[in-house]
Amino acid sequence: MVIIVTGVSGSGKTTVGTLLSQKTHLPFFDADDFHPSSNVEKMTQGIPLSDQDRAPWLENLAIHIKDWEKSGGAILACSALKEAYRQKLQVNSNIFWIHLKGEKVILEERLQNRENHYMNPGLLDSQLETWEEPEYGLHVDVSKNPEDIVKDIFTHLNFDKMKSKLGIIGMGVMGKSLALNFVENGIGTSVFNRTVPGKEEKVATDFVEEHKEFPLLKGFDALDAFLQSLETPRKILLMIPAGVAVDAQLEQLSADLSPGDIVIDGGNSFFEDSNRRVENMLTKGIHFMPMGISGGEEGARKGPSLMPSGNTEAFSLIQEYLQKIAAKDKNGNACMTYVGPEGSGHFIKMVHNSIEYGEMQVIAETVHLLRFGLRLSPPEISRIIKDWISDGLKNYLLEITTDIYLTKEKDEFLVDLILDVAGQKGTGGWSLGTALKHHVAYSPLAEAVTARQLSAKKNDRIELAEIFKHRFRAFGEDKVLLMERIKNAYTLCRIINHETGYSLMKEVSDENGWNLNFSEISRIWTNGCIIRSSLMEELVHVFKETDSLLKHKKTVSKIKELKVDLTFIVGLGLQHEFALPVMSAAANYLLGRIIENSSANILQAQRDYFGAHKYQRKDDPNGEFHHTDWLLLKKQSGK
Ligand code: 6PG
Repeated sequence: MVIIVTGVSGSGKTTVGTLLSQKTHLPFFDADDFHPSSNVEKMTQGIPLSDQDRAPWLENLAIHIKDWEKSGGAILACSALKEAYRQKLQVNSNIFWIHLKGEKVILEERLQNRENHYMNPGLLDSQLETWEEPEYGLHVDVSKNPEDIVKDIFTHLNFDKMKSKLGIIGMGVMGKSLALNFVENGIGTSVFNRTVPGKEEKVATDFVEEHKEFPLLKGFDALDAFLQSLETPRKILLMIPAGVAVDAQLEQLSADLSPGDIVIDGGNSFFEDSNRRVENMLTKGIHFMPMGISGGEEGARKGPSLMPSGNTEAFSLIQEYLQKIAAKDKNGNACMTYVGPEGSGHFIKMVHNSIEYGEMQVIAETVHLLRFGLRLSPPEISRIIKDWISDGLKNYLLEITTDIYLTKEKDEFLVDLILDVAGQKGTGGWSLGTALKHHVAYSPLAEAVTARQLSAKKNDRIELAEIFKHRFRAFGEDKVLLMERIKNAYTLCRIINHETGYSLMKEVSDENGWNLNFSEISRIWTNGCIIRSSLMEELVHVFKETDSLLKHKKTVSKIKELKVDLTFIVGLGLQHEFALPVMSAAANYLLGRIIENSSANILQAQRDYFGAHKYQRKDDPNGEFHHTDWLLLKKQSGK
């Protein structure tokens, strides 16, 4: 919907248009800003514009109107005095005309009081002469107050009957926040939530009732009314729990949707399910778009990182809406990109979460070392990690940890009142399963999943702690030096966490022929998402030069510099009874990746000894498989 507010100079197009923009959240544009400089020059000198002068201006505006329409709508203030001009701007039926009319004396008075405008007041007569009164649209008397004018316009436009650009199914925390984000960006949105008697009743309609400030937001408790409220092809975003609920919803929707409609799954669905759903829905002519969304509640409301995938044709129809609501990177570009075919959007979201697990766990290990190894208090730790952040370790998860370590309830730190049992919803474990399936070494991030699993066995841990008399032992060494070494260990561990996740993405991308762009993926993860960080900013450039962090020159020097501190801290921590699952796995992973002669020859010998599994030899350049009769050799050697 594009609303064009017309009228001669001084009729109040800008005032009414701006007010309309504030109320609808559609962007406001002033057609005067689109005049070529030659026209501006003429108007400043009081020379009336000819139709020839106006032609390129109107053509340019028509192009913009089409674009604004595509991206959700806009309010345009434009004199559009002649019918011929208006016809040029009437690019389709979604244009709504508001014509402002007033007595000449009022218009003159307003023009006299106007500052900073190039329009010469002397042109009013010529404008009034030129004006061809239209027979359509809403005609408004400008002597009314602007608030009342906007009220009249709202009644005339009848927002309730207007079709929404987009629909959201699922009014959980994320669904609600995204709905508000869409309407705040001027994208008319219908929302629907299922009804579960006694549990979920009138969720969508109540939500809309609470947000009357957004006239473009509409709520429905009935699915058919919701579907009818949407523009075609329909664009429906599912924000419901992953798994069977998605299949059930798709089944239900399939009966009512039409070929060409688009369903976007914004939940944390398993990507192999998404691959299957893309194919299934396509047999019905419906585009299914798996889309990873990161940023939690706040991100969804203010700007998430969006990872859409699937059909490119469907993507082109929703791209502009997604661009509007996404977080922006440091260059102002949307943290949203078309990821690739099938469920690749959900796949990278899964890996994102897996890195998130690793990043969270390594922070937990780090602050535990600071607290119980160095005996620092929570506020001291908060201050130290704040310094680390200023010193190049900026990342969202560490930032929230500085707050967590300062938060008290009465006299106690809240973190100390929280039970040490960590939950998980699946994405971390799915990444591990995927890594195993694709033969990708994944130990650092796998350990982050295992750590949560171990945490869940609280009673068992209490019993075993008593049996083993487990106690952390504080470090005796120089605190300041150790702090620096812990910081270095943490820094390197984070590089390895990312390397592990990106290795999995590379492998799966190659196997599926997805051609994922890792620099672009890093870019959309620089803002809005949970693992946004200064390291991620660096990865945008690193992955332009290489597809492996371990082969990137600058990163290699950094790893070489920090390696000794990671292995030292892991050794020290373990000796003092600290469990450091991700840190120690990161050290082992790194050593395992960079070692030329590993211990795997012993494994091959054992496999061949007990199972005749054969082995390849260093002295056989052809790489043939050999078997040895180990017992015979033993006998022959007389041992
Ligand atoms: C995000 C988060 C979000 C959520 C995950 C992880 O990127 O916004 O990853 O998707 O936190 O569901 O949840 P669990 O830790 O419960 O597995």
